Amino acid sequence: MTTVVTGLDSIGMAPAEPNVEVSEAFGADRNEMKVELGLGAYRTEDLQPYVLNVVKKAEKLMLERGENKEYLPIEGLGAFNKATAELLFGADNAVIQQQRVATVQGISGTGSLRLAAALIHSHFPTSQILISSPTWGNHKNILNDAGVAWSEYRYYDPLTVALDFQGMISDIKAAPEGCFVLLHGCAHNPTGIDPTPAQWQIIADVIEEKKHIPLFDVVYQGYASGSVEADASSVRLFAARGMELLVAQSYSKNMGLYAERIGAINVVCSSPDSAQRVKSQLKRLARGMYSNPPVHGARIVTNIVGNSDLFSEWEEELRMMAGRIKSVRKKLYECLSAKDKSGKDWSFFVKHIGMYSYAGLNEAQRERMRKKWHVYMTKDGRMALTGVSQAKCEYLADAFIDSYHNVS
Ligand SMILES: Cc1ncc(COP(=O)(O)O)c(C=O)c1O
Repeated sequence: MTTVVTGLDSIGMAPAEPNVEVSEAFGADRNEMKVELGLGAYRTEDLQPYVLNVVKKAEKLMLERGENKEYLPIEGLGAFNKATAELLFGADNAVIQQQRVATVQGISGTGSLRLAAALIHSHFPTSQILISSPTWGNHKNILNDAGVAWSEYRYYDPLTVALDFQGMISDIKAAPEGCFVLLHGCAHNPTGIDPTPAQWQIIADVIEEKKHIPLFDVVYQGYASGSVEADASSVRLFAARGMELLVAQSYSKNMGLYAERIGAINVVCSSPDSAQRVKSQLKRLARGMYSNPPVHGARIVTNIVGNSDLFSEWEEELRMMAGRIKSVRKKLYECLSAKDKSGKDWSFFVKHIGMYSYAGLNEAQRERMRKKWHVYMTKDGRMALTGVSQAKCEYLADAFIDSYHNVS
């Protein structure tokens, strides 16, 4: 049946993006002590945006070379695709050596996930994907728009402010065989809680046993621990088992290329022939969505990852960024422990990794943080510690202690 168009006036208002409300409310707040924890980006100790020095150097090289602006192939810049897959898996990894990875440049992490979702929908239309509860808010939008059914596995335990590992494992086990499972490669957003290496092995056991296929979301490689190798270890552990898997990558955070929209989708297949077929399908899907990807970010990443001097400098800057977040976590924990005489354990702040944490505050406590202390976090309680400087830790600790103990 054809739907009759009655006029565009029938279109209703889309719901507001929750993060926008947080930054607008923060912007309108005139209190000088205010703290913004709703951010999705790195900030310096002065709480200013940061452009990496290696990015500036790579852009200078690009300008000197005077490269043109011709269309890229549908699959993206060849040198970028090679560099990004090698960064993720390691150049000597069997999956690379055996040419079992189909890599296609994507429109950052979001666009790469969208391509993965389109691939799933087009080839496994009745399958479902399991996602963590909670997960990055946009995962559900991406999957819904691509028509991929999802259900949730337990992940966060509010009582311990840690991983509900048993819940996670039993939900992945209880799902029907042959689902996709969305996993955060490192620095889980929004909780900041990652499985330990031993827990990753068990997760891989269960996924293998149930013939599920993992879809890794890797946005924080190098930015979580400060080491690109360590942050790729979860993905590499699955690849080493010879499993098929999908990995979406983003350079928004680890190179600060938020607005360049550069990332990739990598599909590890069982043979080079299968990888070629998958790649052809990804290209078909990309062609209909945006035709060809943008070149600027791809050239920046290729120049940095493919040049040993710039690569070492990038690693240094990653250690600096990850280090600043870790030192804020430490200072905040020290302030909380010193000031809170109740014996409450605030050590989750130093156990969590990456820029985000959940603090286990309920809605009323979060409301107190905003109304009384001018501390802004997303509605679900996600806090980006990039919005905190050493100088703000004392104040933030007071806000937490008051809101936690004086509001139930
Ligand atoms: C878990 C996760 N996935 C994907 C993304 C997508 O980011 P982008 O599209 O900017 O690369 C983000 C960004 O915050 C994220 O945290």
